[in-house]
Amino acid sequence: MRKKLVVGNWKMNGNRARNDVLLSALLEEARSEAVEVAVCPPFPYLDQVGRVLSEAGIALGAQNVSSFEAGAYTGEVSPAMLVDLGCAWVIVGHSERRTLFGETDETVLAKVRAALEFGLKPILCVGETLAQREAGNAELVVGGQVDSVVSGLGADVAAQLTLAYEPIWAIGTGRVASPDQAQAMHRFIRARLESAQVASSEVRILYGGSVTADNASELFAQPDIDGALVGGASLAAAGFSGICRAAAVVAA
Ligand code: PGA
Repeated sequence: MRKKLVVGNWKMNGNRARNDVLLSALLEEARSEAVEVAVCPPFPYLDQVGRVLSEAGIALGAQNVSSFEAGAYTGEVSPAMLVDLGCAWVIVGHSERRTLFGETDETVLAKVRAALEFGLKPILCVGETLAQREAGNAELVVGGQVDSVVSGLGADVAAQLTLAYEPIWAIGTGRVASPDQAQAMHRFIRARLESAQVASSEVRILYGGSVTADNASELFAQPDIDGALVGGASLAAAGFSGICRAAAVVAA
C-alpha cells in the first residue's frame, strides 16, 4: 500500500516573519499519522523551517539541488548541504526550472543521481504544455521525460523515485486536471515504469497543478494518484492542511 504524500512547494515566497506564522498554523493542523507531509521552502529558510518541522513529524525538502558535489560552482547548493540542513526530499526538474532556467533531461538526470547518492529522496517532475496536449503529444512528452531518467538510472535505482505529474497548463492557473485526465496520465506513467522493468507498485506518483482543499479529495480517490505537489495552496495553512486532511480521509 502506497502511503499518501503531500508536499508543499513554497517556490520563491516567504520571509522569516511570515514563515513563522505559517509554520505555527501548520503544526496545529497539518499533522496526520496516515499521510506523509513535507514542506519545501526556499534555500535561505531551510534551517528556520526545518527546526520547526522536525518537532512535528513533517519532513523538510528543497526545491532544487546542484548536480555537483562541492567546489567552484558559484550560486549552487550541493546535496550534502541539503542533507546537513535536515532535508529528506528534493524537487528535481520542476517545469519552472526546465522552462525558465534551461534544465534539460540530462541536467535533471544528473541532479536526480546526485540527490540519490547523498541519500536525498528526489521528486522527479514531469508534465506537458497545453500546446503539446492539444497536439495529442502529452504521453509522448511525459513518457520521454520519464524514460530519460529511468534509462539513465537503471530499473533498480529508478524504483526509489517519487514522481510528480504536473501538467504545465495546470500550474498556478486554477485550471486543475480533471481526476480522469490525471488518473489516465498517472496510469500511463506507472505502465511506462513497468515496461522499463521498474518495480512500480511502491513508486508514488503525485499530481501537481492547482490542487486545493476543494479538489484534492477527488484526485486522491484515483487509484494511481498517491498524493500532491502543492504550490499556491501550500502558502496558506488552512488550504494546505485541508489537502493533508483530504489525503488522510482517503487513506483511512
Ligand atoms: P500550483 O503549483 O499548486 O500553484 O499550481 C504546483 C507546482 O508548481 O508544484
